[in-house]
This record gives sequence, structure tokens and C-alpha cells, in this order.
Amino acid sequence: MTITTCVFDAYGTLFDVAAAARQAASEPGREAFSKVWVKVATDWRLKQLQYTWLRAVMDAHTDFWTVTQNGLDYALAANNLSDDAELRERLLALYWNLEAYEEVPQMLKDLKSAGLQTAILSNGSPDMLSGAVKSAGLKAHFDAVLSVEDVGIFKPATCVYQMVCDRFSCKPDEVLFVSSNGWDASAATKFGFQTVWVNRSNEAQDELPWVPQSNLPTLHNIPDLAKSL
Ligand code: LAC
Repeated sequence: MTITTCVFDAYGTLFDVAAAARQAASEPGREAFSKVWVKVATDWRLKQLQYTWLRAVMDAHTDFWTVTQNGLDYALAANNLSDDAELRERLLALYWNLEAYEEVPQMLKDLKSAGLQTAILSNGSPDMLSGAVKSAGLKAHFDAVLSVEDVGIFKPATCVYQMVCDRFSCKPDEVLFVSSNGWDASAATKFGFQTVWVNRSNEAQDELPWVPQSNLPTLHNIPDLAKSL
């Protein structure tokens, strides 16, 4: 089997979703927030994702920017920070310029040198993804940036993964799909992609019947893996 196309989840996989809260916590005047930022970041991400799943199941789609704000509002309330409007605005502003993990640019260059097509497949809205890709200087490395907004439902709906095959006129097993979200990697495995779960914090495997073919701690070895399949 030959991989022709390498597709990445965006948030958590290419871009560090904790970077916004980490940065805000390091800024002057945020001593109280600096004590709880890890909890706020964790609550924010979890609620953001839960709201995507709930919206999908309830057939009540909205865009990722809305659920990102909803998730943050929950996290701020849960940590008694709802009154800090300035913090809320700062965290949301930082979310548009999240840092990419340090190995991302070279990894993408290596994939292109190997002749592979590259893409993002994300819940993010087109404007969020465009902002993140541009601010991380990654625009030239991708053949396509695919947003769920084109199908109007969040991952892990099957039609989201189908967007890749439609865009690249390829079969699922020609695609190496890379995600740091275990549930996303499982759903992509069910769809028929070759899959990698990038498990940076050594989380337990989800109890789902579709187990990703590979587990890696970072993105460094993705080009070698793609070439070996
Ligand atoms: C994304 C979320 C799941 O980028 O991280 O699609």
C-alpha cells in the first residue's frame, strides 16, 4: 500500500491549544490566573469538544468559533473567573495565533520533499484555520485546508473524512491521517484511513473498536512512517 496524501487534524495536533492560556498566564497582572491556567485550559478544551459532539448529535450545527467561546465561558465560570472580561478577550485573541509545535515546519517540508500531498482536516472554521496557518508561517506547506464548514457538521461524522477523498480523488487507504485526538484517530480508522494517534501526554487508549495503526509521541517521525507504508 502506498500513501499519497498526509492529512492532519489542526487543534492539538499541529497547533498547541494550551498555548493561549499558557501565554496569558505569563503576562504581568495575571498572578491569580497563573495558578489555575492549566485547569482552565483543560476545561476549555474539553467543553469545546463536548459542544461539537453535542451539536452534531442534536443536528444543531454552529461554527467552531462559537463553540470555542462557549467552552471558554464554561471554563471561566467553573474556575470563578467569569468577571474577568479582559482575560476572556485576551484568551480569545490568542486563540487566533496559536503556536505550532516546534517540529511542524520541518516535518511538512520533508513530506513535500517525499512527493506527498498534505492537508489539514479540521473542525475549525475557514477564517480560524487561515489565521492559524498564516501566523505559524505554514501556508506554503499545504495543498489544501479543509474545514467542516463545507459539510456543516463536526467530526467524527463520516462525511467529514469523506471530504479528503473527494478533494484528492483518492481511496481512504492512500491517506495517512494524523491526530492527537484519540477519538478522531479512531473515527478516521473506522473510515478506512491509515492512522496515527499522536499521544503527547501518554493518555490511555479510548475504548472504541477502531484502534489507530500507529502511536507516536510527537510528529517528528511522520515522514518516515508515511514513506514506509
Ligand atoms: C480539529 C479539532 C478536533 O482541529 O482539534 O478538528
